[in-house]
Amino acid sequence: TSEATLIDGAAVAAGLHSELRSAVENLVERGLTPGLAVVLVGNDPASSVYVRNKIRRSVEAGLRSFHHELPSTTSETDLLSLIDRLNSAHDVDGILVQLPLPSHIDAQKVTAAIDPAKDVDGFHPMNVGKLSLGGGALVPCTPLGCMLLIKGVRSQLAGLNAVIVGRSNIVGKPLAQLLLRENCTVTVAHSRTEDLPSLCRRADILVAAVGQPELIRGDWIKPGAIVIDVGINRAEHEGRQKLIGDVDFAGARAVAGALTPVPGGVGPMTIACLLRNTIDAACRRHG
Ligand code: GUN
Repeated sequence: TSEATLIDGAAVAAGLHSELRSAVENLVERGLTPGLAVVLVGNDPASSVYVRNKIRRSVEAGLRSFHHELPSTTSETDLLSLIDRLNSAHDVDGILVQLPLPSHIDAQKVTAAIDPAKDVDGFHPMNVGKLSLGGGALVPCTPLGCMLLIKGVRSQLAGLNAVIVGRSNIVGKPLAQLLLRENCTVTVAHSRTEDLPSLCRRADILVAAVGQPELIRGDWIKPGAIVIDVGINRAEHEGRQKLIGDVDFAGARAVAGALTPVPGGVGPMTIACLLRNTIDAACRRHG
């Protein structure tokens, strides 16, 4: 047996970025520069890094970027009134409120307050519903990025067994819908799943999105499977900060057919898909 093909998410994302840049140029020429508003409440260090990268990438792509950093003590009412203003702002096409929010703020309520047409995260109940019904939704960025990477390896997914480990609203659930749409047989596993290793061994497509460092071992993987690692876990390694995935990379590499690294796999795709959603939202609004 040979080593798994590495799925170079950074390279795929770079290709997307250059396509997106020309799409933005065309819109700018028509006087329709797409605008993305990014809202960060509090100072969670991981969220700050994500938000900084999102803003940097959107500026590089030629988008107009609106940045709102609010203190962790911000009231739900104040956040909702900011969202109201962004909903009515004509130069804002996309609104992203970075999660998690402080515990005194009801994230569901905030998500539902965003204009569904500007909901570039795809978290609004209207977009969640449309994704499940199969038409016209803004699709959550990380699942969308996973699908682009999977389809890059194999374009016909019909009949394949897909196992997603993790049932979050941000990744696991929407990804299940996308794989179902491709006619995969989809299983969503979680903390109460019995005999996770045996379930994973049946997967032609295995997606790990649980936030548990190296949970998925090499001997849980079906030979030749496509393995997508969504995990971003911070770990100390020989005194240095290191990112590790939910998959034991070395173990998986010896068995899988194709595998995403961490970092440089799904992460860069998430941001590229956010920009794509923002451009889509702008095109639809100015349609
Ligand atoms: N927190 C973790 N992932 C995401 C995401 O995709 N969007 C937002 N808004 N917050 C997140």
